[in-house]
Amino acid sequence: MVLQTKDVVQRFGGLTAVNQVTMQIEDGQIVGLIGPNGAGKTTFFNVITGVNTPDEGSVHFLGEEITGTPAHEIVAKGIARTFQNIRLFKNMTAQENVIAGMHTASEANLLDAVFRTRRHREETRACEQRADELLSLVGLYDFRYELAARLPYGHQRRLEIARALAGGPKLLLLDEPAAGMNEQETAGLLEFIRKLRGMGCTILLIEHDMKLVMGICENIYVLDHGELIAQGPPEEIQNNPRVIEAYLGKEG
Ligand SMILES: Nc1ncnc2c1ncn2[C@@H]1O[C@H](COP(=O)(O)OP(=O)(O)O)[C@@H](O)[C@H]1O
Ligand SMILES: [Mg+2]
Repeated sequence: MVLQTKDVVQRFGGLTAVNQVTMQIEDGQIVGLIGPNGAGKTTFFNVITGVNTPDEGSVHFLGEEITGTPAHEIVAKGIARTFQNIRLFKNMTAQENVIAGMHTASEANLLDAVFRTRRHREETRACEQRADELLSLVGLYDFRYELAARLPYGHQRRLEIARALAGGPKLLLLDEPAAGMNEQETAGLLEFIRKLRGMGCTILLIEHDMKLVMGICENIYVLDHGELIAQGPPEEIQNNPRVIEAYLGKEG
């Protein structure tokens, strides 16, 4: 078991944004988290990643309880995420953004950095090589020296994923990676996530694009008003009357 949440509750004043959500993610699974706007999906990510401490319930990662652990410690334990709103260093190159996602050099290396020793140069080169590998993986190798701000939107989204992967996470959380992408970019993303699955990555994916979710997730959780209203394989979720109602009720 990679991730296990139990009866997680997150309140904001009088609002219960996440209400007793229990979830299990096994090694190598791609799990979907869907639900109408305001359902509590991002808040649930914030609980898992230590941005919020839940009011009730627990989170276990690889068998260890991480409820309420600070965000930077959770990253170091191996949970990486992307954000619903892109958060890149806009004035850094694609390659520099990916390097920023790697675990930072220890203080012991500070002197090396100051005096630009050979060891430091070699380490820098290794980081760049690793970054270029990740950029190839997401199809951005040719853009490695381009400033993040100058990349097309879909590329920026993929750069975020490359940066999240840079720390070698055991669990990757993607918050609406296809948001704002055109059809072609979304298709590219689908293919890319499939590639990640082939590499054995474990992923929890928040996504509105049903085609994407249904095409890639083996298990889907559905939130509505903070509550889990359904869970199961895509075929089951697609035909679940409560799920259909939750969506039609909001958009119809
Ligand atoms: N920090 C916060 N303070 C107060 N209310 C919040 C906060 N974060 C989210 N909410 C509220 O919690 C609910 C769930 O939000 P969110 O998790 O962003 O939903 P989703 O990602 O499913 O669209 C919404 O009603 C939102 O307004
Ligand atoms: Mg959200």
